[in-house]
Amino acid sequence: MKIGVVGLGYWGPNLVRNFSSTDNVESVIACDLDERRLRSIGKKFPSVVLESDVKRAFADESIEAVAIATPVSTHFPLAKEALESGKHVLLEKPLAATAKEAEYLVNLAESKSLVLMVDHTFIYTGAVRKMHQLINDGEIGRISYFDSVRVNLGLFQHDVNVIWDLATHDISIMHYLVHEKPVSVAASGSAHYNGHEDIAYVVVNFNDGLMAHFHVNWIAPVKVRQIMIGGTKKMIMYDDVEPSEKVKIFDKGVTASTKEGIYKTLIQYRTGDMYAPHLDGAEALSLLCSNFVQSALGQAIPVTDGNAGLEVVRILEAADRSLKNHGSLVTLD
Ligand SMILES: NC(=O)c1ccc[n+]([C@@H]2O[C@H](COP(=O)([O-])OP(=O)(O)OC[C@H]3O[C@@H](n4cnc5c(N)ncnc54)[C@H](O)[C@@H]3O)[C@@H](O)[C@H]2O)c1
Repeated sequence: MKIGVVGLGYWGPNLVRNFSSTDNVESVIACDLDERRLRSIGKKFPSVVLESDVKRAFADESIEAVAIATPVSTHFPLAKEALESGKHVLLEKPLAATAKEAEYLVNLAESKSLVLMVDHTFIYTGAVRKMHQLINDGEIGRISYFDSVRVNLGLFQHDVNVIWDLATHDISIMHYLVHEKPVSVAASGSAHYNGHEDIAYVVVNFNDGLMAHFHVNWIAPVKVRQIMIGGTKKMIMYDDVEPSEKVKIFDKGVTASTKEGIYKTLIQYRTGDMYAPHLDGAEALSLLCSNFVQSALGQAIPVTDGNAGLEVVRILEAADRSLKNHGSLVTLD
């Protein structure tokens, strides 16, 4: 099939590169309003067709699918037009700027029997796939908490705050790994430079004591990409900055037993071995591109579909509402 990639800024060229080597892709049409970006893609990928008019690309019936990597505020109008033109759509994260827009796109794709996917890239990494397998196999036990830190210096986005930019990744990972439904969100943050929050702390609550916490920051002196997952049997430490051994499984835990006497509850700690499982090193974006093409051809089921994108946007939107109300708890429907 022919695939259009719209938006050739920071992230779009990665999609062009991956789709250029994805099975069943006959040609890639790269589209941007900015002629300099088009020329730069033309130099790097001589076989890619260049297009400056997105409407012309959408009107071209030979293009069956498009990937959209433009700023978040433009996701909805571009994806709506692409779906209405009969194209399968892969949208960059986050799926849309509001849950209402995301829901509209999910329904539109469904009514037209088209594939709508979201680029939650981390879901396709060897590390997240391994954690998913361990959790599903019951090795970690019941999850008690999910705690993530994603901080570094920049890149400031101009149309969204740091939660929509960075926490989207961790919330999408949580949504993939934790199979329970979140019930409420609280967020605090502050803006120092361009009017958008550049540091934020988000808490997502579930029933039965499970809680998730996300710390995101564009103005940190060091790059930290860590997620800790506590289970009743074992605990996981995922450090994406580590060159190898990104995932470590700790056979550590706590057991509480009720005893007669002064201490009603006896807390005991268990410390066993730690191991770092082997991880598949395939490029996440290449797996995503392949899953999108296969899904569009009816040969696979999307791993990160429009509904996954919608659920993440619901949490992001609730976090924004909480931010505006000084961290008050926002209930999710
Ligand atoms: N999955 C990831 O890990 C990841 C990483 C970075 C960015 N992103 C996402 O990718 C998207 C783009 O981010 P970026 O940092 O590359 O932005 P960017 O500003 O660097 O690039 C956006 C490009 O889109 C073009 N554009 C805007 N409107 C257009 C239109 N109507 N038609 C054609 N081209 C248009 C701009 O000219 C620009 O070249 C965002 O949604 C962002 O969240 C995802």
